[in-house]
Amino acid sequence: MKVFVAGHRGMVGSAVVRLLSEDPRFELNIRSRDQLDLTNQSAVEKFFVAEKPDAVVFCAARVGGILANSTFPAEFLYENTVMAINAVHSAWQSGVTRFLYLGSTCIYPRLAAQPISESSLMTGSLEQTNEGYAIAKITGLKMCSLYRRQYGVCFHSLMPTNLYGPGDNYHSENSHVIPGLLRRFHDAKVAGLSEVTVWGSGNPLREFLYVDDLAAAVKCTLQLEDPPDVANVGSGEEVSIRDLAAMCAAVVGFEGRLVFDTSKPDGTPRKFCDTQLIRGVGWRPRVMLREGLALCYQQFLRESSLGALRS
Ligand SMILES: NC(=O)c1ccc[n+]([C@@H]2O[C@H](COP(=O)([O-])OP(=O)(O)OC[C@H]3O[C@@H](n4cnc5c(N)ncnc54)[C@H](OP(=O)(O)O)[C@@H]3O)[C@@H](O)[C@H]2O)c1
Repeated sequence: MKVFVAGHRGMVGSAVVRLLSEDPRFELNIRSRDQLDLTNQSAVEKFFVAEKPDAVVFCAARVGGILANSTFPAEFLYENTVMAINAVHSAWQSGVTRFLYLGSTCIYPRLAAQPISESSLMTGSLEQTNEGYAIAKITGLKMCSLYRRQYGVCFHSLMPTNLYGPGDNYHSENSHVIPGLLRRFHDAKVAGLSEVTVWGSGNPLREFLYVDDLAAAVKCTLQLEDPPDVANVGSGEEVSIRDLAAMCAAVVGFEGRLVFDTSKPDGTPRKFCDTQLIRGVGWRPRVMLREGLALCYQQFLRESSLGALRS
């Protein structure tokens, strides 16, 4: 199966490439952003006509944490919508019959009933801090669903919970919570600081998935004849931000005090997804949080020492 992995240099895309490249049944087709800017409609059309992949795994997106999302909502909305529209439509037009789109559990309604089931999509107001990103992602997901319904193509989506793992972004302001915490504790340890401030109250409950486990869900559903239209992918392990921060501090070996800055936004109070559908097709997570954090920190140290840290 010839598979175009869009966004192969990102955290998810590189995990998908790592896994699929071990299996000779998959022939990978990749393009860097310089070679194919997915916001460029005519370039995307030409690419699909020329390459005709059997399947697309769409891991390209503009992605960021609360600060980046709330500062640049227009760019998050525009770029993610245009990339999805260009890729889904051009893929269909050129005869591609399989397309796996990556949504995210942060596009469910802010106050969705927990655990969040796939059916709660678009049943309530979105989280304001990432509204632009969410509307764009809902467009991509709905395009897959509606093209599947109208044209019978196997276009479907996975909805991963918060991800972490190799290739994560350690930018001091634009990173997600786990790389952000690991980096701040590491820097504080190196500088001999006695306390680290964590954004928000520490009370929100979250679920995290090691990115290689998501890649396994991609591989699993890519081989199903009739995959679920939309399927959540989560670890089933729920943790408060306060406990997560303590775990990150322990992994790094930071022994100072943790201070919670309640003037900063918390985001959604609880986010835990229902994973019955994906478990029903045989997928299971393998890497639990403590082990995953330790693997991440080792990777962080390796990349830092090589000057190759993504930030
Ligand atoms: N990270 C999470 O916690 C999380 C959670 C749930 C869902 N997801 C979803 O998983 C997917 C991948 O996320 P990620 O964390 O892997 O993001 P990432 O590490 O930032 O990777 C995104 C990739 O998209 C590429 N890209 C962005 N704009 C592009 C453009 N205009 N043309 C071509 N390529 C472009 C980037 O290329 P460059 O390398 O050139 O920048 C990068 O390779 C996204 O759909 C995201 O919504 C992520």
